[in-house]
Amino acid sequence: MDTSKLAERLAEAGQSHVLQYWDQLSPEEQAEMSVDLESLNFMEINNFFKTAMKTSGQNSQEKVDTRMEPVPREVLGSVTRDRERLKEWEEEGLRCISENKVAVLLLAGGQGTRLGVSYPKGMYDVYLPSHKTLFQIQGERIRRLEQLAEKRHSRKCCIPWYIMTSGRTMDMTKDFFMQHKYFGLKEENVFFFQQGMLPAVDFNGKIILEGKGKLSMAPDGNGGLYRALGTQTIVKDMETRGISYIHVYCVDNILVKVADPAFIGFCTLKKADCGAKVVEKTNPTEAVGVVCKVDGRYQVVEYSEITLATAEKRSTDGRLVFNAGNIANHFFTLTFLKEIVRTHEPQLQHHVAQKKIPYVNTQGQLIKPDKPNGIKMEKFVFDIFQFAKTFVVYEVLREDEFSPLKNADSQDGKDNPTTARQALMSLHHRWILNAGGHFVDENGTPIPAIPSYSVTTLYFLCNISRHGPAGTVTPEVSQNLKDGTDLPIKCEISPLVSYGGEGLEHLVNGKAFQPTLVIDENGVHELVKNGL
Ligand code: UTP
Repeated sequence: MDTSKLAERLAEAGQSHVLQYWDQLSPEEQAEMSVDLESLNFMEINNFFKTAMKTSGQNSQEKVDTRMEPVPREVLGSVTRDRERLKEWEEEGLRCISENKVAVLLLAGGQGTRLGVSYPKGMYDVYLPSHKTLFQIQGERIRRLEQLAEKRHSRKCCIPWYIMTSGRTMDMTKDFFMQHKYFGLKEENVFFFQQGMLPAVDFNGKIILEGKGKLSMAPDGNGGLYRALGTQTIVKDMETRGISYIHVYCVDNILVKVADPAFIGFCTLKKADCGAKVVEKTNPTEAVGVVCKVDGRYQVVEYSEITLATAEKRSTDGRLVFNAGNIANHFFTLTFLKEIVRTHEPQLQHHVAQKKIPYVNTQGQLIKPDKPNGIKMEKFVFDIFQFAKTFVVYEVLREDEFSPLKNADSQDGKDNPTTARQALMSLHHRWILNAGGHFVDENGTPIPAIPSYSVTTLYFLCNISRHGPAGTVTPEVSQNLKDGTDLPIKCEISPLVSYGGEGLEHLVNGKAFQPTLVIDENGVHELVKNGL
């Protein structure tokens, strides 16, 4: 195999060391490695490294506190503070959906390192009674929403689903969808595309080898979306279909309201080109980025970029001043995305994440370092907020809409399969109560409506006292807040039956159920009572 051209390119970029084991590789390994290397632009990688290190160096020195302003009320929509507008926003969103103007775009190119499974996160089963995976839950929400829009406007419609994967997740994701018949969606309305990958580098910018013939590669961050949109035919496809609005979200949020009509309606009525859904940050030290203005432009500021004094600042109503917690759930117009792809994408700089990256040493042994030895370079999906002409923020309740799956189960753990499962069952429990149903134990004794003294309950109570009648809770339910067990009631409602709590009254009103309760397209099932 003639590698002289490749060797030349590597030498020019100061990356010749990646070929140090070349002679020890089998012909197949050599062929595989040269395919990987041929696809990379080493000069570009060196430039990414230089710029990313320069910017991250600046950022770590300088806190942005003095340049920050909170989101002004006039660009904010809130499910608790603007309850009287919700119906109007939802109607508008449903109208857009019924006119085939709305698409959803799923960010599913991550490696899910913390969860630690070898397959894409969307295939994860958090052990709901139905054992539905995250992909299935999302697919069924799309189907239900299409039906709701169709019913409301008496016309057939479709919400195309664009799924961004990476080199590591593409084949498994596609196979999974095929095996599950696209979860009832039409195959031609589900599109897979692949984001770019970048090599991990050491602190001097040298590419790291994870095997003698293998570079350490990682996806280029969820902001890799914008380059991928440009290099593949996604934008064109959206244009051909007449799409105007795109809802972008992460695969790991089990509560995600895919193509949420109220969010879409709010953004379109505000004539926004870019919108961010947020949850209220209540704890100053919570490591969540906040949406705010810096030097007059919107961006997400990470907790590490501000001082504790700023993070702790409160307004007269007791809320944190910087409380718009970013949950990577966004609205974009297609016009805005096109502008990003065409003009701004190259200006987006990579962020630096210091990592412990396994590497092959000069003796050819694989070493697993115990402290960071290199960096991964990533762009973030929110990096484009700064280019928005009309930016809006939409605040929702965390317990209704945000429970990400990040970590494997562990005692007292956070954002893991148990917390995701419990968040979904707790939401569905509340839907049943709101629709007039209630729960009893095996002796027929009513089970208190809301478990007390759990973190969820305390959070919930905080919201009630702060915002008046809370989120999705009726006064009757609020009345029922009293002692109970700490475990959520086992209850699951198929998205094919209800997208956001609607349409349950005729099934549950005035009825008592013994957990585990499952409501799906085949009816209402009390699993334990029926010996299932
Ligand atoms: P995270 O930053 O939580 O990363 O992604 P992750 O890959 O899921 O998990 P860890 O950090 O390796 O444990 C947030 C969202 O962004 C997507 C993920 O799939 C998830 O939906 N993502 C992340 C991408 O699409 N591409 C990337 O390069 C990184």
